Amino acid sequence: MMKRSLVALGLLFLTSAGAPAQQASDAVAPERATGLAAAKVATAKTHMVAAAHPLAAEAGERILADGGSAIDAMIAVQTVLGLVEPQSSGLGGGAFLVYYDARTGRLTTLDGRETAPMEATPKLFLDDKGAPMQFFDAVVGGRSVGTPGTVMLMQEAHNRWGRKPWKDLFAPAEKLARDGFAVSPRLAGLIAAEGDRLKTFEATTAYFFGADGAPLKAGTILRNPAYAETLSAIAGGGAPAFYTGAIAQGIVDTVRSSGSNAGVLSLADLRNYQVKERRPVCIAYRALDICGMGPPSSGAVAVGQVLGMLENFDLKALGRDNPESWRLIGDAQRLAFADRERYLADTDFVPAPIKGLLDKIYLGERAKLLDGDKALAGDAVTAGRPEWDHAFNFGRDAALELPSTSHFVIVDKAGNVVSMTATIENGFGSRLMTGGFLLNNELTDFSFKTHDEGLPVANRVEPSKRPRSSMSPTIVMKDGKPVLAIGSPGGSQIIGYVAQALIAHIDWGMDVGAVVSMPHLVNRFGPYDLEAGTDAEKLAEPLKALGYEVKLSEMNSGLHAIAISPDGLTGAADPRREGIAVGK
Ligand code: GLY
Repeated sequence: MMKRSLVALGLLFLTSAGAPAQQASDAVAPERATGLAAAKVATAKTHMVAAAHPLAAEAGERILADGGSAIDAMIAVQTVLGLVEPQSSGLGGGAFLVYYDARTGRLTTLDGRETAPMEATPKLFLDDKGAPMQFFDAVVGGRSVGTPGTVMLMQEAHNRWGRKPWKDLFAPAEKLARDGFAVSPRLAGLIAAEGDRLKTFEATTAYFFGADGAPLKAGTILRNPAYAETLSAIAGGGAPAFYTGAIAQGIVDTVRSSGSNAGVLSLADLRNYQVKERRPVCIAYRALDICGMGPPSSGAVAVGQVLGMLENFDLKALGRDNPESWRLIGDAQRLAFADRERYLADTDFVPAPIKGLLDKIYLGERAKLLDGDKALAGDAVTAGRPEWDHAFNFGRDAALELPSTSHFVIVDKAGNVVSMTATIENGFGSRLMTGGFLLNNELTDFSFKTHDEGLPVANRVEPSKRPRSSMSPTIVMKDGKPVLAIGSPGGSQIIGYVAQALIAHIDWGMDVGAVVSMPHLVNRFGPYDLEAGTDAEKLAEPLKALGYEVKLSEMNSGLHAIAISPDGLTGAADPRREGIAVGK
């Protein structure tokens, strides 16, 4: 089945591989020949954190250095991220955790995804005439807010694997919230870019804009006493202090009184919220096991399908500079997305053929569709028929997922590993704020349409259901031991970012620094997204010649990774964001 490229190109990405490790403390990353800054890379012997903001990574590292577990550090990292990178994740959102426990050798996945309110109906995002709402009309306001899951996930993980007292883990974020932190260039840029949309609600306007109405500038010292109070309450009272009482009331009041786009979240939704342990979804790829989050995330299934199809081709021999590699990767992604749109949703509500979708015989058959030498025609990219002992069929989904979110990875002294992706969905979520944190708009990850060609859409809104995600927190295992933890934000592009990173590391031997700073090429629905301003652009003409429509786009990944070897840990932070890897 392997094909050789007819098009020879120069070594497009050579300069991004094998680069000397750069210390996390380097303030300015030099421009690279790929068009991107270098990854921020660090090495360590015993423990490490890689996260999207230095203050968050450093808070986690201090917990680890002081004998805390990876889960203890996760709580410090997440609560600091919610303060300094509030647009991406926080107490008002949800998260997925993939966790390796060194003592038992077990991988566990915890689902802290938001739920639709019990009063929500499948028509939540249809207008008076039954047509899907405009995306941002649905996002801004209480309608899009699901029951937050991150606080309960932190509590559940700490109950199982925490070592330090719960209350101590909130201290770093609480102190920063009271003393103030410098608004980062990225946050300042995003506030300015948001403009009026972020001014829809009073509390949010008061926090992100000065008294003169100007967006906060980079370097401004920002204090958040309300967030400090919220953290103090959770530190003292545990998750119940968030899901009942004054904080819960504040969330419900904010959602329900948000004007014409108010939502229906209730105190009962918060009180009844549960974190769910899900079976990890793993697929063998080459000599490794790639493990991640199953439904309600589509992440591990879609990444697994891409890899399972590509395992039938010798990507190593083809190489990363070869358009043929990208034809195979791009069309494997399109086929995985066709299955994802039809079959994947919250399996507590709809059955999904997970086993069939990851079956190597099924994926081998799907891979045969890639045997040609041109891009697949649009009508050739349809969902397959995986083996399934179920009579249901579903229509195609139409959820629009825009990039926000944050991913971080942690390894502690005992060898426990955290790979966690957390989100409030869109940048600044629903734009609603209470208790010093933003509320998510995760419900817009549901399909707005309830039916497609007469068939129900699996990912339609239903009361208490969790919207389908693309988040792909991943741990790669070799002979039962973790060798890599990785993941990224980026909406539905997450699947492409993570799949490409795994191929680059496993097939092309790129180290984690090179992997996270590699230009992106992602194909979900036919047009090939190439990362603008990078060497990915050099593949535009060859890919057009193969039949693709090509789009140059800003591709806002935030890949954070730690490679684990007998010699120690190597961590890397995506140069597209502000994070670092730090350890000792
Ligand atoms: N809201 C981003 C995701 O869940 O994929």
